[in-house]
Amino acid sequence: MNQHPGSPRPADGPPADAQQADPDEAQAVRREAGGAESSRANRSWWDRNADEYQDEHGAFLGDDRFVWGPEGLDEETAGLLGPADRLKGLSVLEIGAGAAQCSRWLAGRGARPVALDISHRQLQHSRRIDARLAARAGGTGGDAPAPVPVVQADAGALPFRDGSFDLACSAYGALPFVADAAGVMREVHRVLRPGGRWVFSVTHPIRWAFPDEPGPEGLTAVSSYFDRTPYVEQDPSGRTEYVEHHRTLGDRVREIAAAGFRLVDLVEPEWPAWNRQEWGGWSPLRGRLIPGTAVFVCLRD
Ligand SMILES: C[S@@+](CC[C@H](N)C(=O)[O-])C[C@H]1O[C@@H](n2cnc3c(N)ncnc32)[C@H](O)[C@@H]1O
Repeated sequence: MNQHPGSPRPADGPPADAQQADPDEAQAVRREAGGAESSRANRSWWDRNADEYQDEHGAFLGDDRFVWGPEGLDEETAGLLGPADRLKGLSVLEIGAGAAQCSRWLAGRGARPVALDISHRQLQHSRRIDARLAARAGGTGGDAPAPVPVVQADAGALPFRDGSFDLACSAYGALPFVADAAGVMREVHRVLRPGGRWVFSVTHPIRWAFPDEPGPEGLTAVSSYFDRTPYVEQDPSGRTEYVEHHRTLGDRVREIAAAGFRLVDLVEPEWPAWNRQEWGGWSPLRGRLIPGTAVFVCLRD
């Protein structure tokens, strides 16, 4: 669910080809980008852009709502984490949590979430929301919701012991951005207890075949769905500023299985009539015709 309001093109999918932009501006290209390079670039990018992201999307995300993507599929009704009444008391890891809106929804159901993100600035927004909710509730005592515990770390190296959590979730967090998505799957498997559930959403892989435009120009396939070359934004000197990594549906399934999970559902949310918003390349027009989000529901047996 990333956004690039100021970049040459929104970055939830690839450009048709490498783009030649203004020589002083970032350029969008398709080229290789390694794990450390991707993490470093994305951490800086999210630190620089967190304020704008939360300004632009905070109202849709809510303070304590759990939405799986721009379609607005809400965990409250989707129940992909299991029945809401069984969340009480569960320890939950949210990966790539941003301002931890999903974790706050989980805490409201009695779960014990930890919100992990690589970006310090995103996590400061979590603190900002916690403080506002506490002030609204009349201070830190009484009915004020407890602040969500946050951890700044890379999803590829989770700083937790084996078997620390009952549940792990991620709404567009980390997985679209990491070079080694299979490694993240293994890490999540490691920190989950047997019987745990792992549910995550990403940009639907088919979107990588289309220009990332909300209008009619975004309806014609121009790139190979099978081209896994990362989408990279770089400064004029070639320094990497932002990266997204593509996996086909089959790649994702194989990575899930290789880590030891059982895939029990793959949800492709349809665009609902009530949702009139555009979010980068997501729009009602495209949403009627092609999927924009894929949500994978996995079990650790
Ligand atoms: C599109 S936001 C999703 C956050 C939240 N679910 C939302 O909808 O706003 C993606 C988040 O993933 C985080 N992220 C990117 N790469 C990461 C990594 N390697 N490890 C942990 N978090 C990462 C970013 O900092 C960002 O907060």
